[in-house]
Amino acid sequence: MQDLTSRPQWAALRDHFDTTRNLQMADQFAADAGRFERFSVEACGILLDYSKNRIDEQTMRLLVELAEAVDVAGQARRMFDGEKINNTENRSVLHTALRRPSSDTLQVDGENAVQAVHEVAARSAAFTDRVRSGEWTGYTGKPVRHIVNIGIGGSDLGPLMVCEALKPYASDNLQMHFVSNVDGSHIAEALAAVDIESTLFIVASKTFTTLETIANAKAARQYLLDAGAAEADIAKHFVAVSTNAAAVADFGIDRDNMFGFWDWVGGRYSLWSSIGLSIRLAIGNQHFDEMLDGAHQMDQHFASAPLASNMPVIMALLGVWYRNFFGAGSHVIAPYDQYLHRFAAYLQQLDMESNGKSVSADGEPVACQTGPVIWGEPGTNGQHAFFQLLHQGTDLIPADFLAAMQTHKPVADQHRMLLANCLAQTEALMRGKSRDVVEAELKASGLDADAIASLAPHKVFAGNQPSNTLLYRKLTPEVLGALIALYEHKVFVQGKIWGVNSFDQWGVELGKQLASTILGEMQAGVVGSHDSSTTALLQRCIDAG
Ligand code: F6P
Repeated sequence: MQDLTSRPQWAALRDHFDTTRNLQMADQFAADAGRFERFSVEACGILLDYSKNRIDEQTMRLLVELAEAVDVAGQARRMFDGEKINNTENRSVLHTALRRPSSDTLQVDGENAVQAVHEVAARSAAFTDRVRSGEWTGYTGKPVRHIVNIGIGGSDLGPLMVCEALKPYASDNLQMHFVSNVDGSHIAEALAAVDIESTLFIVASKTFTTLETIANAKAARQYLLDAGAAEADIAKHFVAVSTNAAAVADFGIDRDNMFGFWDWVGGRYSLWSSIGLSIRLAIGNQHFDEMLDGAHQMDQHFASAPLASNMPVIMALLGVWYRNFFGAGSHVIAPYDQYLHRFAAYLQQLDMESNGKSVSADGEPVACQTGPVIWGEPGTNGQHAFFQLLHQGTDLIPADFLAAMQTHKPVADQHRMLLANCLAQTEALMRGKSRDVVEAELKASGLDADAIASLAPHKVFAGNQPSNTLLYRKLTPEVLGALIALYEHKVFVQGKIWGVNSFDQWGVELGKQLASTILGEMQAGVVGSHDSSTTALLQRCIDAG
């Protein structure tokens, strides 16, 4: 694989960076009334305004040339066509097949993957209808009122994020609970909150070997039995979502109550599959299908739009521009949308587990920085917490602002207040406030010259802080589907540019191995061979019982 930084397109970008790094966005806006038109794009119900970025037309041209040089379009085709692009696990990467219409065909390992997807989806949909209609009952004959999804990582973050995001579409009859942490307090609190006789547990695990999930599922099963249910009743209260039928059967879950998927669906890309069963149950099949449709529309946009007007490609290239040329180590996600309060947490896994790699797909050390730290909180809360650092800190932190123009829950004038804050923040980050303006304001407020001189430096905003704004009419299932797919493809494009395999996650293994050793030592009460820090900490935990 050719070293990215030795490509002529990279050298051209570096030269361009050297000559444009100090350009001020405020000056660019002042000089060009058409800047918003030039640097905005609309697709699938989402407007991306990227005009408040430290770019000019030449920047975008050179970035697109870089994307062409690594053949982003061809690489995307290989993914969509089912080539085994996850080379370290020898797997296809086909979350996009999960949202293709049933009329499509796609041969994978000798079977029509699209047909298989729709067959399993039909089973999940039928089950969903049985639960939501009250036909499915627990061991005492009560209809289901509580759903507890037990899973972690991709088997938790996506379903939880979507269930929160689409609450306005959710059934009032079902309360959703999500248990992920192996900390027993998580399952204990969930069990305390449910009526066990009307509770359905979904054990969601691609591998069905994940320590946290299996431990929590065992605790839930025991709780059900302790409540008076018989072994035979377990089938009424437990279903599984997994690719591992044998392990599901070993756990004691009826095969009829298992909903499968395929190894070509990565955990963090799996909410569209049976892993989304909790989402189906919460919002119903029709809304789930609308979400799939929104994602499919974004897939088509990504697959067909020219690179220069391709939304995921643009967002990916801007990310590369900041990460690799400005040295930005993190990227903040600020949804001005309370329903998206788990969006940043979801994107952390999507982005950081995908592109947090330091060797390329062929095992060579990468030549440049790869995935940034992704973090964030919903606005306006973030404004009263970490925005200080965005405005006046020492790091350049690019931001994505997301907002719906219409709210599901109108309360007095609050939606306008929300939107006003969102727009004001992107404007403030871009424009900043000069020393002259600060001094004039302080003078007008009646301060004397000494007070102005001491206070002014603290009130200056350097500005020129970049942001994207993603605006949509309303957070519908369709728009949410498109938004998630947008970020999936952004991550894909960045992974291709950096040359990493975005679809494996070997970095999670070492901690799992060591935890298993340490757990054994804790259980035996005998400390093995460790560094002095781990030894002392472990000994204290053992002594504390
Ligand atoms: O430990 C990381 C990971 O493998 C994620 O990639 C995955 O989403 C999560 O664990 C859960 O895995 P599973 O669905 O197999 O329980």
